[in-house]
Amino acid sequence: MNDSADSAPSSTFSESAFRSVLGHFPTGVTIVTAFDPSGQPVGLTINSFNSVSLTPPLVLWSLGEKSRLMALFRQSPRYAIHILSTDQRALAERFASRAHDRFEGVEFERSPLGNPVLPGCLAYLECSNHNLHAEGDHTIFIGRVLHCEEAGPPVAAALVFHRSSFFTVSS
Ligand SMILES: Cc1cc2nc3c(=O)[nH]c(=O)nc-3n(C[C@H](O)[C@H](O)[C@H](O)COP(=O)(O)O)c2cc1C
Repeated sequence: MNDSADSAPSSTFSESAFRSVLGHFPTGVTIVTAFDPSGQPVGLTINSFNSVSLTPPLVLWSLGEKSRLMALFRQSPRYAIHILSTDQRALAERFASRAHDRFEGVEFERSPLGNPVLPGCLAYLECSNHNLHAEGDHTIFIGRVLHCEEAGPPVAAALVFHRSSFFTVSS
């Protein structure tokens, strides 16, 4: 069911209050990467990543409608999602910045499925677009996982985002 603009119930809070409330939910941090049609690696930091289904293997993440990368990820046949370790905070900040080329000076490898893969992450998943849902000011990407790998032991601590700051969580 979908409430139309006419029948949408009014809310009791401001956008900044909503943002602040959501910030209390701690998340992991990922970087989503792909090659653009000219062969340049592109990517951005994402904390809306989550699991959806084991069979078939599905995950989700959401992208703001104003993103420069919206058209690319909507059309990209493949992309990679990297789960970041605590040592990759600078990378998370770089891939959230307005830098023209976020990959400049950043080491990466080309995966067998043809995605730019960042070394040093805890794990990565390679996906194709299974479904897209435009909702409000974001599009939810449902990714079908085609390949996934995790780093061998010792397992590093995860990078965590909570109330606009980065933290470390170790087991
Ligand atoms: C920790 C963190 C998590 C983020 N998560 C998301 C997200 O889930 N979805 C999103 O659209 N932008 C997210 N962003 C913002 C993007 O990384 C990026 O700054 C923004 O999309 C603008 O760049 P673009 O135009 O290249 O997309 C996040 C930023 C940070 C620092």
